[in-house]
Amino acid sequence: MSVTETRARRTTRVDAGPAEGIVAGRFTMVTAGTRRIGVIRLRNGEVRAIRDRCPHKAADICKGIVGGTWMPSGVGELNYDRHNEIVACPWHGYEYDLDTGAELFWPKGPGLRQYQTETVDGRVYVIVPETRAGRAES
Ligand code: FES
Repeated sequence: MSVTETRARRTTRVDAGPAEGIVAGRFTMVTAGTRRIGVIRLRNGEVRAIRDRCPHKAADICKGIVGGTWMPSGVGELNYDRHNEIVACPWHGYEYDLDTGAELFWPKGPGLRQYQTETVDGRVYVIVPETRAGRAES
């Protein structure tokens, strides 16, 4: 972990490991201060990092099932899509879009806390803003 002074805010840069180790369908877990963060690859190859805390009742969301969802469709149609882009919470089954962080059926409600990532020299880093007290924020 390294600390970088940016113009806007100080950030903590957390090494999540080799880029080839960040895969679709399974979280790679890292920590920043007291925060657990899950890092995962979407099916389009992009990487997302989310705090391991469900916005509903604070379950460890990264222990949920990563898969797809049933898309809106006509009567009698079953249209499964978005494989490896949705996480279902292990406690109450709320489904969150790993791309945007939004809950699928209440998109204006509280969503997943997402963090920026960057890939440098084949390694993935999570960029975590710090609080004024110098701790990695939630
Ligand atoms: S704690 Fe995640 S859906 Fe309730």
